[in-house]
Amino acid sequence: MTATSIVLRRLLPLPAVVQFLAVATLLTTTPPPLPAADALDEGYYAATCPDAASIVRDAMERLHYNDPTLAPALIRLLFHDCLVRGCDASVLVSPAPGRASERAAVPNHTLRGFNAVDAVKRDLESACPGAVSCADALALMARDAVALLGGDDYAVPLGRRDGTVSNPWEVDLPAPFSKLDDALAYFAARGFGAEETVVLFGAHTVGGAHCGSFRYRLTGGPNGGGGPAMDDALRCELLQTCGGAAEQGLDTDPAVFFDPDTPFAVDNNYYKQIVANRTLLQVDQEAAAHPATAAHVAYYAANPDAFVSRFSEVMAKLSNVGVIEGDAGEVRKVCSRYNT
Ligand code: HEM
Repeated sequence: MTATSIVLRRLLPLPAVVQFLAVATLLTTTPPPLPAADALDEGYYAATCPDAASIVRDAMERLHYNDPTLAPALIRLLFHDCLVRGCDASVLVSPAPGRASERAAVPNHTLRGFNAVDAVKRDLESACPGAVSCADALALMARDAVALLGGDDYAVPLGRRDGTVSNPWEVDLPAPFSKLDDALAYFAARGFGAEETVVLFGAHTVGGAHCGSFRYRLTGGPNGGGGPAMDDALRCELLQTCGGAAEQGLDTDPAVFFDPDTPFAVDNNYYKQIVANRTLLQVDQEAAAHPATAAHVAYYAANPDAFVSRFSEVMAKLSNVGVIEGDAGEVRKVCSRYNT
């Protein structure tokens, strides 16, 4: 195992690529754009839970201190929630006997942070029972995660309600080996232009990925799985971590930091890495040379402050996708379970 490797956990019973392929063959339709929130309000809990945001921030500081890998996981959790059925906490529901949920879908197998959301929600419930939705809790936690990783703080207007539907077959998130054209179309259908998508991809400057999502890029020559080539020195290093583990009786799917230099910092290293062909995921690497994204990549590679402030702006936009408000849905008592 190299210095760049981290062991997050072993979750995938089959290689991730095989599973993603299986799902990709089933999911070929693009849903209509999801509406963005218009009635959310930063003072939404002024009467019912005035300290909601600070309760979440305190809990996040405690959790981050104990486990710095949690903050990247929460940023990813928000993305996987908001682009499937909108930011309605549908991704948080645990599968139950006879009732699957989004968590059972392949792209969600490596999601982490569910226990942390439940813990923060317990804090909120003891201060203000039944008031704060899990969708709002997750939006606040992701905002705090960005800030704790050195990103810019941003306003999170509140008032999201929790959905009462969570289906694995609706999870149509792009795969790591998706063509960038397809990924751009996916984000465009949800209201994000090419520049915004490139900025969101910059989240891959924190946290890591299991070998299963990029191992195929390491073998079969410099051009691995047919996508853009990976820098040969990085490829050889990753082969040591991902290639030999099974033979040595070690974890067969360890995880590796996207940015081994500063894995817990919101910075522009993601762009510098893809310019140097030194990133893990094929879809990310394609962004360096694609005509719709190359100029944005070059700009953010050269302008670290511009990325940090833009990342928070686009995360704020992500937090508002397709929210449900008013009397729709419910306010879950426990984020991993419907109320009834
Ligand atoms: C085409 C779009 C995307 C694809 C295919 C993709 C795929 C992946 C994959 C395969 C991993 C590794 C998971 C693992 O092995 O544990 C990952 C990690 C991550 N992704 Fe993405 N992602 C995409 C877009 C995004 C976006 C838009 C965000 C947030 C704004 C995001 C945030 C993250 C973060 C923070 C991690 C690290 C998680 C951790 O350390 O637990 N990703 N992504």
